[in-house]
Amino acid sequence: MAPSTSSAITLNINGEKYTLPVDHRTTLLDALREHLDLTGTKKGCDHGQCGACTVLLDGRRAVSCLQLAVAAEGRAITTIEGVADGERLHPVQQAFLDFDGYQCGYCTPGQICSALGVIEEHAAGWPSAVTADVRPEAGAPPLTPEEIRERMSGNLCRCGAYVSIVEAVARAAETQRTGVTENPAAEDSATEPRAAGAEAGAKEVAA
Ligand code: FES
Ligand code: FES
Repeated sequence: MAPSTSSAITLNINGEKYTLPVDHRTTLLDALREHLDLTGTKKGCDHGQCGACTVLLDGRRAVSCLQLAVAAEGRAITTIEGVADGERLHPVQQAFLDFDGYQCGYCTPGQICSALGVIEEHAAGWPSAVTADVRPEAGAPPLTPEEIRERMSGNLCRCGAYVSIVEAVARAAETQRTGVTENPAAEDSATEPRAAGAEAGAKEVAA
């Protein structure tokens, strides 16, 4: 008898358990989008090149187009649908709104999941390729725009919203670190372009 090419698997997604039959070749991205209707995670290149499909696996960033669904069993999977706390946006989501960190929004779920990973990695003291002093005793480097650009470099944005994305990640990291939420729309003219973020409240973060 030919070996079976499909199995029933149980995935832990955003704290909920989903049991589904999948062909063993099904990627996690396709399982999310095509089997579970969790379409917030986007398919861009389907080749691990663009970051649109980024999710968190056990809190670490992963491109779901390069993960087999069967290999994700037993992992804690976080998708963009699980980032907010009910109606309350996560500080990273709020920062993307406040700073207009998107245009069409297609890359945004992946950018936000990646930003969540970046902030955690940085807080844990992980160096990046542009960190000058990588000795463990040096601790986490300042999360400068250069550091953010490098750490977010796996997430492409065809709209070119990079300047605002970097600002959003910087603000979100600061909010997470201090617990203080600032409203950029209320700041002085030095951040005037971000005042347009007030209008972004009418837009939806792509989900
Ligand atoms: S769709 Fe996965 S990296 Fe592009
Ligand atoms: S906002 Fe359009 S691709 Fe990034």
